[in-house]
Amino acid sequence: MTMAVEANAIFKQFKEHSVSEFFKKNRQMLGYSSMARSLVTIVHEYVTNSLDACEEAGILPSIDVKVSRLSADRYSVYVADNGPGIPRQYVGKALAKVLAGTKFHRNMQQRGQQGIGASGCTLFSQVTTGKPIQVISATSTEKYRCGISIDIMQNKPVITNFAKLDGIEMEHGLAVEGEFADVKYDTSDHGILEYLKRTALSNPHCEIKFTDPEGKEHLFVRALQSMPERANVSKLHPLGLTTNDLLELAHISLESRLSLFLTNGFARFSKGKLAELQALLPEINFDKDPKGLAWDEAEKIVSKFKDIKWLSPDASSIIPIGEEQIMAALVNILNPEQINITERKPKVFKGGFPFIIEAAIAYGGNSGKKNIEGYEGNILRFANRVPLLFDSGTCAITEAVRSVQWKRYGIDLDNYPVSIFVNVSSVYIPYSGVGKESISPESEIVDEIKLACMDVARGLQRFLSGKQRSKAFASKYKIVMRYANQLSSDLSILSGTDKEHIKEKLENIVALKYKQANGSDDENELQNEPTDEGQQQAAQPASQ
Ligand SMILES: Nc1ncnc2c1ncn2[C@@H]1O[C@H](COP(=O)(O)OP(=O)(O)OP(=O)(O)O)[C@@H](O)[C@H]1O
Ligand SMILES: [Mg+2]
Repeated sequence: MTMAVEANAIFKQFKEHSVSEFFKKNRQMLGYSSMARSLVTIVHEYVTNSLDACEEAGILPSIDVKVSRLSADRYSVYVADNGPGIPRQYVGKALAKVLAGTKFHRNMQQRGQQGIGASGCTLFSQVTTGKPIQVISATSTEKYRCGISIDIMQNKPVITNFAKLDGIEMEHGLAVEGEFADVKYDTSDHGILEYLKRTALSNPHCEIKFTDPEGKEHLFVRALQSMPERANVSKLHPLGLTTNDLLELAHISLESRLSLFLTNGFARFSKGKLAELQALLPEINFDKDPKGLAWDEAEKIVSKFKDIKWLSPDASSIIPIGEEQIMAALVNILNPEQINITERKPKVFKGGFPFIIEAAIAYGGNSGKKNIEGYEGNILRFANRVPLLFDSGTCAITEAVRSVQWKRYGIDLDNYPVSIFVNVSSVYIPYSGVGKESISPESEIVDEIKLACMDVARGLQRFLSGKQRSKAFASKYKIVMRYANQLSSDLSILSGTDKEHIKEKLENIVALKYKQANGSDDENELQNEPTDEGQQQAAQPASQ
C-alpha cells in the first residue's frame, strides 16, 4: 500500500520547543487551572520563595502581601520580603527562566525544589496581560528596580527599564508586583487568606501582613522570635539513586577515582561498603575516572546497592517544625481548648529518603470548620511547612487521616470543632505533580501519618472523656443540691435549727464529696455548671 503522506512531508512540520513554551501550553500543571486557584498559586509561589530566602539568610521573615482588584478577572499581586534580595546578574534567570534557581541541585530541605515557581508567575502574567513583572531588589551592595519577562521561545529572561535605586527605605529584600488576568479572588477556605493563615500556622517565626482586595488588612503576628534550625545540605543515600542519577553525578564529579566518587559523594558509603560492592562487581574498575563511567556499569552498581545492607539515611538534615513551635502557632491562630501534638521518629521511604511526620489535633476555639449545623473537622496539610490547599483527594495526608477510625477515639470528625494538622518534612517531598499541592501516597509515609494521628487521637480522647466525666459529675451535683435545699427546709422544721445553717453544712458535705469523686479542686467548676449533658454540648468551644 502506498503512503498517503510521506515522512519527509510530515517532518517538514518538525520543530523544537522550549520548556517555557511547554508550560505556556500546560499551565494547569503549575497550578494555573481554575481562576481562583491561579491567584492562590501566585501568592503561594512568591511567599514560599520569600520564606526560603529569609531562612537561608538567617533573617526572621516579614512578608507584605497585597492583592488589588483591577477588573472582574484581573488582579495585581504585590509580595515584598525582608530577605537577602537577588544580585542583579541573577535576577533575570531567577524570576524569568523556567528551571533555574538555587535549590533544585542541592539535596537540602527547602520549600522550593524545582526552579519553576517564580518564572511560572512571570510566564502567567505575560500570557494573560502581556505585561512584565516589576521587581525591586535590595542586597547588601546595591538597590535596583527592573521589569522582567520571558522570551518564551528561547526560555530566556528579558530585562527592561533597569534603574539603580538610592534612598529607598528597604534595607534588604525583594519586592515583586505583577498584573494577572484569568484570575479571581476567593474568600473560601481555598483562598489566599486561608493560605496565609495556614502559612502562619506552620511558620510561627514569620510575620505576614495581607491587604485584601477590599483594602482590609489582616496581620498574622510572629508567635516566636527565634529562627528555626537551619537545614544542611545532605548527601544522597545509595538506595535513593537511579542509574541515571548515578551516571549524571559521576560525569560532573571532580573526584579522580570512581571509588572516591562513591565514598565521598554518598551518605553511609564507608570503605567497608565499597569493599562489599567491589566483591560483588569484580568486573568493574573502581580506580577509573568517574567521568568514564558507562551506563551498563552504572546500572550494575545501582542494582547491587540493593544487595548491600546500608545504615538508614541520616535524618539530621531534616528539620521538623517542633512541638513547642506548633503549640505556639496553634494557640496564636486557633486559640483552641485542647491541643495534642506528636513528632514521630525519622523514617525512610523508597529505601533512600528520610522523612519526619508531625501531627497535632486542636479542639475548640477556632478549630474546625463552621457549617450551618455547627462544626466539622478539617485537615490542615503541610509539606516542609508549606500549606497544601488543593488536590486533597490524591494526597498521602488525606488518605492517612481518612483511614483512621476516629470514632473509636470518641472523635466525630463530621461534627466536632477539630483541626487535624499534619506536616511532612523531607529533603525530597514526593509531590504528585509539578503544582506541588499533594504528596504521593508512598506506603511508608501514609503509615507514619496514620500512626501520628492515632497518637494525637488518644490524647484528645483522654481530654474529651475527662471533660464528659466532669459534666456528668456537675450534673449530679446540681440534682443533689436541689434535694439538699428541700432537706434543709424539712430538717429545719423538725429540729428548729436555722435552715440556712443546715443548708450551708449540707452543701459543704456535697461539695467535698464532689471534689473527691471528680478529682477536681476547681471551685469555678461547681459554679459554672453546664446546662446540657449531651456530648455535642461538651464539644462546643468555650470561646464561641
Ligand atoms: N524572594 C526571593 N529572595 C531571594 N531569592 C529569590 C526569591 N525568590 C526567588 N528567588 C531565587 O529565585 C530562584 C527561582 O525561584 P523559583 O520559585 O522559580 O524556584 P525554586 O523556589 O527554586 O523552586 P520551585 O519551583 O519549587 O518554587 C530561587 O531558587 C531563588 O534562588
Ligand atoms: Mg519557589
